[in-house]
Amino acid sequence: MEIKRASTGVKGLDERIGGGLPTPSVILVAGEPGTGKTTFCMQCLFRGAKLGEPGIYVTAISEPVDQIHKYMASYRFYDRRLVDEGLVKFLDISEVLMKRGARKALDMTINFIRRSDARRVVIDSITPFSYTFTEPQEYRRFLHEFFTVLKAMETLTLLVAEFSPEATTAPESYMADGVIYLYLQQGETPSTFKPGLQVRKLKGTEHPKDILRLGFTREGIRVLE
Ligand SMILES: Nc1ncnc2c1ncn2[C@@H]1O[C@H](COP(=O)(O)OP(=O)(O)OP(=O)(O)O)[C@@H](O)[C@H]1O
Ligand SMILES: [Mg+2]
Repeated sequence: MEIKRASTGVKGLDERIGGGLPTPSVILVAGEPGTGKTTFCMQCLFRGAKLGEPGIYVTAISEPVDQIHKYMASYRFYDRRLVDEGLVKFLDISEVLMKRGARKALDMTINFIRRSDARRVVIDSITPFSYTFTEPQEYRRFLHEFFTVLKAMETLTLLVAEFSPEATTAPESYMADGVIYLYLQQGETPSTFKPGLQVRKLKGTEHPKDILRLGFTREGIRVLE
């Protein structure tokens, strides 16, 4: 049976990963601050919407949705019409997450996905879920539930995680179908930094394992030759 692929909208990436991200699947997008996690996911969401696939952006950080729109509008892939037409929807779960806990926030997300008939989902990010647990064991148990529920959906789910690529054995990385790390690497001189992307794992896909150099422009992210 052939694996369905979803175009990421990131120039230079799809052709390196067999045509796109396998779908349905749960892909972890991890990296340090400012490495482009939100940009990568939004770019993918708007690509899907442009192809007629409804998408949902779920924010778990208390960042006003208006603020997210304002920042994303600086990229050319951001298309307000797709938002107005309901092809890209936004859901803020931060308050429910903090006041009523991780399971309620997960329920709210799943219900929204089902009601919207979404094909692509971004959850930005998983990290605040971990703050609602006092015992690491409890959080792990929740993660297992979280991934089980998401994997049962017919969606491409991009799960943002705020951790450095050095955290290679984070449980989230084992549970995901794919792991993409974003970097800001030291350049030739100590004062230069270069953005990079590594496909660390991608089920059912032959892919490069080395770090691909990225360019950030108003067009969004692209893989440099
Ligand atoms: N319009 C633009 N054109 C070019 N580069 C941009 C533009 N807007 C943002 N950037 C770059 O993208 C970076 C932010 O990327 P993004 O917000 O996707 O990172 P992140 O990994 O989600 O960060 P955080 O961990 O803080 O959420 C900025 O620091 C800037 O370098
Ligand atoms: Mg972000």
